[in-house]
Amino acid sequence: MADALRPSARVTEMVAAMTLDEKAGLTAGVDFWSTLPVERVGLPRVRLTDGPNGARGPVTRGEGGLRAVCVPCGTALGASWDVDLLERVGVLLGTEARRKACRVLLAPTVNIHRSPLAGRNFECYSEDPLLSGRAAAALVRGVQAQDVATTVKHLVANDAEHERTSMSSDVDERTLREIYLLPFELAIREGGSLGVMTSYNRLNGIWCTEDEALLGGILRDEWGFSGFVVTDWYGVTTTEVSPAAGVDLEMPGPGRAFGAPLADAVRAGTVAEADLDAQVTRLLSVFERVGALDDTGTEEPTSADEPADRELALEAAVSGTVLLTNDGTLPLDRSALRRVAVIGPNAAKAVIMGGGSSHVEPFHVATPLEAIGDHLGPDVEVVHEPGVDITRAAPTLKAEVAVTYHAGSEPGGEQVRAETLTATQLLSFGPPQGVPAEFTARATCTFTPERTGPHLFTLAQAGRARLAVGGRVLIDGMATPLPRGRTFMGYGSKEVTETIDLVAGDPVEIAIDYTSGGDGGSGGVYGVKVGLRALLPPDAVERAVAAAAEADVAVVVVGTDDEWESEGFDRRSMDLPGEQDGLIRAVAAANPRTVVVVNAGAPVTMDWIDDPAAVVQAWFGGQAMGPALARILTGDAEPGGRLPTTVPERLEHNPSWGTFPGDHDHHRYGEGVFVGYRWYQSRHLPVRFPFGHGLSYTTFDVGTPTVPASFTAGTGDELVVEVPVTNTGSRSGSEVVQLYVAPPSRTEVPRPPQELKAFAKVHLTAGESTVVRLTLDDRAFAWWDVGTEGHAAVVERLPLKPPGAAAAVRSPGWRVEAGTYALRVGRSSADIAHVVPVEVVPA
Ligand code: BGC
Repeated sequence: MADALRPSARVTEMVAAMTLDEKAGLTAGVDFWSTLPVERVGLPRVRLTDGPNGARGPVTRGEGGLRAVCVPCGTALGASWDVDLLERVGVLLGTEARRKACRVLLAPTVNIHRSPLAGRNFECYSEDPLLSGRAAAALVRGVQAQDVATTVKHLVANDAEHERTSMSSDVDERTLREIYLLPFELAIREGGSLGVMTSYNRLNGIWCTEDEALLGGILRDEWGFSGFVVTDWYGVTTTEVSPAAGVDLEMPGPGRAFGAPLADAVRAGTVAEADLDAQVTRLLSVFERVGALDDTGTEEPTSADEPADRELALEAAVSGTVLLTNDGTLPLDRSALRRVAVIGPNAAKAVIMGGGSSHVEPFHVATPLEAIGDHLGPDVEVVHEPGVDITRAAPTLKAEVAVTYHAGSEPGGEQVRAETLTATQLLSFGPPQGVPAEFTARATCTFTPERTGPHLFTLAQAGRARLAVGGRVLIDGMATPLPRGRTFMGYGSKEVTETIDLVAGDPVEIAIDYTSGGDGGSGGVYGVKVGLRALLPPDAVERAVAAAAEADVAVVVVGTDDEWESEGFDRRSMDLPGEQDGLIRAVAAANPRTVVVVNAGAPVTMDWIDDPAAVVQAWFGGQAMGPALARILTGDAEPGGRLPTTVPERLEHNPSWGTFPGDHDHHRYGEGVFVGYRWYQSRHLPVRFPFGHGLSYTTFDVGTPTVPASFTAGTGDELVVEVPVTNTGSRSGSEVVQLYVAPPSRTEVPRPPQELKAFAKVHLTAGESTVVRLTLDDRAFAWWDVGTEGHAAVVERLPLKPPGAAAAVRSPGWRVEAGTYALRVGRSSADIAHVVPVEVVPA
């Protein structure tokens, strides 16, 4: 753990030299991505950047042309089970944040995969808190080694997007401690995270930004957190309650509760200046720790595309790719390949990240089709058929888009700014830089169709907009606002569609008019997005089947994309969107050597699982997903991933079924601690693929562990488990040794049949052996005891007190029960090679 931050003389002097307005000003952003500079005392502007996928820079998605390294999404990183890799990815993200002139990275996201449907699952690591927390701690160590503070987010129980800004996650105390808080605890205690971001939601009815017991009691008093707490963007804050509860920084600026209103509250005597000083001291101490106080605050954000970074993005994508099934078709024998059919809606698209604030603009993106073609070289013919289209509406058009901004919300105002964008989307939080709050914009570009036939156009707006194609108004959301919808993270309209016939080779002008007037810019979001796609011919599936039948191998790339999995909304179904199930079945029937690649950030229904020869889960693999996939398919790389989350057979088997996503602002976590495999295993439910599952191209022997016969808890000692592992196959590969602990047969509270308590990834060459050392401490055996204070208070009121009622009252805390525990060592939660008893004795 990083040393606790103690205010240095420099920080103390700075605080003393700042005026009340300057101090209050520092507690709210000065704009969307930075804090207030106070040059008088030598305090520069400090900039923050999202996030978990890469460091976008101090810009909003779609704004500015900064490119960034795009690493695999959270589930893919979680699937690597490789803390060493995560630390190196952290170093890369920290380096990227510094290139972007930022000292705070708004990552990692450690909310839990409670339901496969949660919109941001792709951003989070796992359904298991230990895997999430160890992954997060490693990433934090890497980022912070580059003098960039992380903000582990979103504290806490922010595990759904539905009603995300208003809902109360209703979670009992034990569940909170054992499942939802643990990743934060590990990121702080083992990783030393200097920052925490609160969530939008309420916890048991209390806004997390006002929860003194959470931010003060647990975070600071129990975990010893000495860094700063920042709100999620536009999270609810109150001038009087939030600072006292432990929030230090309200983002974005200008402050609504902090900043000027906080200065007024101090003047009015409703907030003590000493509390404000404590906030400022914590912020400055973190800034000092990462070196931000020595910046000028005017450094230019830059982008760099370094070969070593590209390599690491590739390694991470390979390491997180999970081979789910394989009848021996993989790896492909390149010498026997003449023609490969690359099929599916995601084959010719680079679906490398999910939707929302984690978005970055990567340097390199090869689609699976391009990457497979490049990798196989000119001697292999690669053919493509999409088969089906899952585009929800249509992607933005990538083109040179000339934009002019004009003052006033009516057309004809004076031009105040011009820029060129790379896609048909304008988006800003608050008016764009240099543009007044009331403005109009006109964006134009040219589109030359590749295909003759119907083309679908879409328009979504936050504000009001009109779309004209070839001089004809196609969708008019200006005269009459479009219906409200879920675009622009819930602040925008519905996406409205219109079809028009175009001719291949004939260029048409696309013109977008936008005004901030009317009902626009709700939540400070100003945006317009135009999408476009050529519609598929009616015989698209038949064409895909024919292409597969004539190929040596068919690779079907199915999945979702950032329109199906995104911040702002949850999926409605676990099924693959559109007609993809039918496509898989039809292609697999036409070619027995069909490999399905699932390109989705979270589990999907796989009722077709027995049809293809092999199935690969590629997640949203970041900028190197395509090349990683090509290497894995051909055996030039080994699929290193293991599932960080169970793939259920049916959504209805999931523990949150019936209570997810919740309603009327309450999300009831009724399954308690029985999340993910803890549920499926306790109920003996069949699953499609268990937690921890993943095949390799080689074989491993996990030998009998060496375990001491007993362990005395409460002494601070660790129990060391040594597991011999041998690569028994004929090629190099990696294995993840997983150690689950099963409780004694009789326990005071219901406990899951087994829980992951340690793991290690090993890379071994053919025939190589090693001994994996796994350590367990008290917590590996403990459960959170809510104590008996509540019970004692109830009993006190009973007219007839039960015998023993006067017994000593037990305080809440971690409790280790004496008994025989089983250490279960294996390759997945369902593939346990050895079960070893250990006698646990409380000290
Ligand atoms: C997200 C955060 C993100 C912030 C800034 C919010 O919508 O929930 O995770 O860091 O925006 O982009």
